[in-house]
Amino acid sequence: MNRREAIKVAGIVAMVAAVGAEAKMAETNMNRMEMKPKDPKKLEKGELKHTPLITVKEKDANGYTQVEITIGQGGIIHPSTPDHWIDFIELYADGKLVGKSTLEPEISRGATAFSVKLDSVKELKARSGCNLHGIWTSTKKI
Ligand SMILES: [Fe+2]
Repeated sequence: MNRREAIKVAGIVAMVAAVGAEAKMAETNMNRMEMKPKDPKKLEKGELKHTPLITVKEKDANGYTQVEITIGQGGIIHPSTPDHWIDFIELYADGKLVGKSTLEPEISRGATAFSVKLDSVKELKARSGCNLHGIWTSTKKI
């Protein structure tokens, strides 16, 4: 095989790999339904497992406050297995997107943090996606 043929084969291999990756993503059934608890004042176990917990930490010397988001409340931690995991977490400050974390199964669990200028912010909102159980939201007045 000469150099030109080798480059051609490498290109074909890369194309096949890309098509395979797309097919794998397509066959993964991602639930993107917006979910709401039946009674926000009394969450059931499955709702506790998916509702983002927003924790406002300390402000640093530059005026950024660390905001942690973990998925799961009341001591219930959402699992992270190849078939069931939190795949993203977003944080909004007064409706404006602060950031989005994309999470991989197994190696990470549903948790992230952002450093945010909260000076005039009145409400934080976190959204997270479970591949099986949809998108869950919580808000925190500050
Ligand atoms: Fe889930």
